[in-house]
Amino acid sequence: MDKTLCRVGIIGAGHIAEKAARTLTAMDDMTPLAIGSRSEEKARGFAGRFGIPRAYGSYDALLTDPDIDLVYIATPHSHHFDVTRRALLQGKPCLVEKAFMANAAQTREILDLSAQRGVFVGEAIWTRYMPVVGMIRNLLAQGRIGTLRSITAALSYSIAWKERVIRPELCGGALLDLGVYLLNFVRSCTDSPIVKVSSECIRFDTGVDKSEVITLTLADGTLAALSCSADCAGVNTGVLAGTEGCIEVDNVNNPSLLRIFRIGGILEEEIPVPERITGFEYEFRACRDAIAAGARELAQMPHAEILAMMELMDGLRRAWGVRFPMDETD
Ligand SMILES: NC(=O)c1ccc[n+]([C@@H]2O[C@H](COP(=O)([O-])OP(=O)(O)OC[C@H]3O[C@@H](n4cnc5c(N)ncnc54)[C@H](OP(=O)(O)O)[C@@H]3O)[C@@H](O)[C@H]2O)c1
Repeated sequence: MDKTLCRVGIIGAGHIAEKAARTLTAMDDMTPLAIGSRSEEKARGFAGRFGIPRAYGSYDALLTDPDIDLVYIATPHSHHFDVTRRALLQGKPCLVEKAFMANAAQTREILDLSAQRGVFVGEAIWTRYMPVVGMIRNLLAQGRIGTLRSITAALSYSIAWKERVIRPELCGGALLDLGVYLLNFVRSCTDSPIVKVSSECIRFDTGVDKSEVITLTLADGTLAALSCSADCAGVNTGVLAGTEGCIEVDNVNNPSLLRIFRIGGILEEEIPVPERITGFEYEFRACRDAIAAGARELAQMPHAEILAMMELMDGLRRAWGVRFPMDETD
């Protein structure tokens, strides 16, 4: 990799790939070099819209381009495994959209392959790389809300019209699309281990989860109550409540403002997050730095944590009877 410029190949010319392309175009230390699509025409259209120099009509063509330093995989979850596996076999470092894989079994296989080949792989759970994580952790460490006792967070979008959200063969369901942010919100704010999980879920007719509530009991006595739905438009706030006040995060999957309240609901301080392009730049730059340092994983979301999250989500799906065709029989 050039010391000053990391060249990214984007796989899958869909919705989130567009946001990634916009972000990379605006960065000065990274650039979108190529787009890979199953359709050459679609690749050319995407490349034209974002000024991307190379357009490939197959994913494999992009994976064999020797000038690509990082592959960003933006296909539905169901297709992450196959593309990531092929990329790692080509020796290509990968940043894979959330949810990382369909399940923990696929995750173990990919992380093992990364170890065997010595190739970098990370999860594009963008909220874990944002400066807001450090800001929240500092406020907690400073005792600004006393001792943390409770975390509540919600995330709902009306996205049931998307095929990939409702189809089991595309690993649909609210959990892998939205719930994953809530679980990561808890894990990014506190290191206290999860000792108990309980949940309730309502499913789509297709069998995947539509709406769910999840409670996590943490070892230090903190209780997290999480709620998400792929079939309604909600207020996506998170609240960290302590013995002397609380921190409100305006949107758990795209935080822009923290508000600190004292006991009695008295607003003490408002802290906006730093200016940003889209917020995706933090995950991209974290990859660039890790690859330049010869690392195989990201400090903000290490491989063990990626696996722990997939195992947690497997357990929830098992409890709800939500299965994907690629799940092992258990
Ligand atoms: N970080 C975030 O904020 C965020 C937000 C939304 C989604 N995501 C994640 O990004 C990934 C993609 O989501 P998206 O909303 O961008 O999806 P999307 O708009 O449906 O695009 C997915 C792309 O994947 C490719 N693809 C390959 N096999 C496919 C198949 N069988 N069916 C449909 N598409 C297929 C297609 O690209 P080609 O036709 O060009 O091959 C398609 O355009 C998911 O893992 C999702 O969780 C992340």
